[in-house]
Amino acid sequence: ASPFAPRHLLSIADLTPSEFATLVRSAYAHKQSVKTGEGLPPSLRGALAGQTVAMTFSKRSTRTRVSSEGAVAALGGNPMFLGRDDIQLGVNESLHDTSVVLSSMVAAIFARVGPHSDVVDLARHASAPVLNALSDLYHPLQTIADFLTLHETLAPSATPSAASAPSGTARAASTGANLGLGGRKLAWVGDANNVLFDLAIGAAKTGVDLVIATPPGYEIPQPIREQIAAAAAEAPAPGKLSEMQDPAEAVSAADVIFTDTWVSMGQEEEKVKRLRAFEGFQVTEEMGRKGGAKDGWKFMHCLPRHPEEVSDEVFYGNRTLVWKEAENRLWAAIAALEAFVVNKGKIE
Ligand code: CP
Ligand code: NVA
Repeated sequence: ASPFAPRHLLSIADLTPSEFATLVRSAYAHKQSVKTGEGLPPSLRGALAGQTVAMTFSKRSTRTRVSSEGAVAALGGNPMFLGRDDIQLGVNESLHDTSVVLSSMVAAIFARVGPHSDVVDLARHASAPVLNALSDLYHPLQTIADFLTLHETLAPSATPSAASAPSGTARAASTGANLGLGGRKLAWVGDANNVLFDLAIGAAKTGVDLVIATPPGYEIPQPIREQIAAAAAEAPAPGKLSEMQDPAEAVSAADVIFTDTWVSMGQEEEKVKRLRAFEGFQVTEEMGRKGGAKDGWKFMHCLPRHPEEVSDEVFYGNRTLVWKEAENRLWAAIAALEAFVVNKGKIE
């Protein structure tokens, strides 16, 4: 074990409900102040000057790479991208050795890995905070950006023009976990994957109901289901999780319909089988109509998107939040660096 044990962000499960909400609110506040010309707060300006943040990515990335490099630069630090052929990341050197050496020279490590156990291993031996930039189980930086997007779009306090809040909003009111989203309903139509797992944990913590439709055989694994239930148990006003197989039933009364790729990184050899299993799961106008989604339902997807997952009409139409969601990765990364690196894991 390292003499200094930093706090890491490996999953939304690592955060209390109020810490999670604070991260989302900080991301929102930083976005607002930069967009209005005020700039980042003095506590963040130059906060990483003279420091390097390593970005060890064993898989390719557009959004996570650009947002994390951009966030480090915004705080005055030097982002150092280390791709799979650049360093010995679990190849020719143990993760233990890489972790000890790397973390002795940098302020933090963003790590994109295959198996989640790799990022756990890196974090266990690192003397600097490790931020999970996607593993096969979790994508916490995506979830912070997704809740920022939901907060901006659906929370009456954030957006005066947002549709009036449903009656359940009171459920999460006056708690530290209040993002103004209590009683909102999200529908996830597609694969039960890494992006969904952290989204579901975040929803449980912030009083947002989530209904999931997956084809038979592609459900949430039991250990993750238990983790979502544990997240709900610690929440002051938990969101409810429901699971089913019929997409139309799942989208009933939904405020937002989500999906993601049906073939995540590392599952490429299952592609043909998966495309067959997910037939009928494409998100379309008809699905929303047939299932009785709210009139103004919105669409979210972490990207990259493939046409079989969502029709062009929905993806490029006025329901889409995907561009804002992608941009919000930058504000989420800034909030994560602030919390885990600048403030050394103190989130309040
Ligand atoms: N959403 C997301 O993480 O995209 P990238 O794989 O391009 O980083
Ligand atoms: N579920 C996808 C997310 C990509 C950002 C994957 O793991 O490939």
